[in-house]
Amino acid sequence: MRTSERPAVPARSLPLTLRLNGRDATFTIEPEVTLLDLLRERGGLTGTKKGCDRGQCGACTVLVNGRRTLSCLALALAHAGDAITTIEGLADGDRLHPVQAAFVEHDALQCGFCTPGQILSAVGVIAEGHARTDDEIREAMSGNLCRCGAYPNIVAAVAAAREALR
Ligand code: FES
Ligand code: FES
Repeated sequence: MRTSERPAVPARSLPLTLRLNGRDATFTIEPEVTLLDLLRERGGLTGTKKGCDRGQCGACTVLVNGRRTLSCLALALAHAGDAITTIEGLADGDRLHPVQAAFVEHDALQCGFCTPGQILSAVGVIAEGHARTDDEIREAMSGNLCRCGAYPNIVAAVAAAREALR
């Protein structure tokens, strides 16, 4: 077969624009790229962690239009136009978000690997009104694993942040 007779190879990369931490960001990506890989590898936002990469640990949690989302299970192209918030976009300049400040104050981390996901998840849980008691916080945050076992301090931090955000 001559070159000119070969079937055209479909273009694999597609344009994507989304609102990333308050700014429009445009990428050209393949359809199989996850939101997590887009953030980390194309967006340079490595605060969002890749733990299990299969929806089981919560380390990759970000907010999509304000809702807690596991970015390892989300295809980036499905989020065209969506507002994505990562840990890098949470503080207001030098001023930490109340949840970040509460995690520092309550020493709610050890190695810190799970912390960005814990904090984004906590922001979502508080906004949803699912942080009324310590048991509710434990239940709502149960998808965010911490191998260091910082759970008691995490619950205390989320409860304090809930009060600060009232
Ligand atoms: Fe997404 Fe573990 S990396 S849930
Ligand atoms: Fe180490 Fe949570 S602080 S995994």
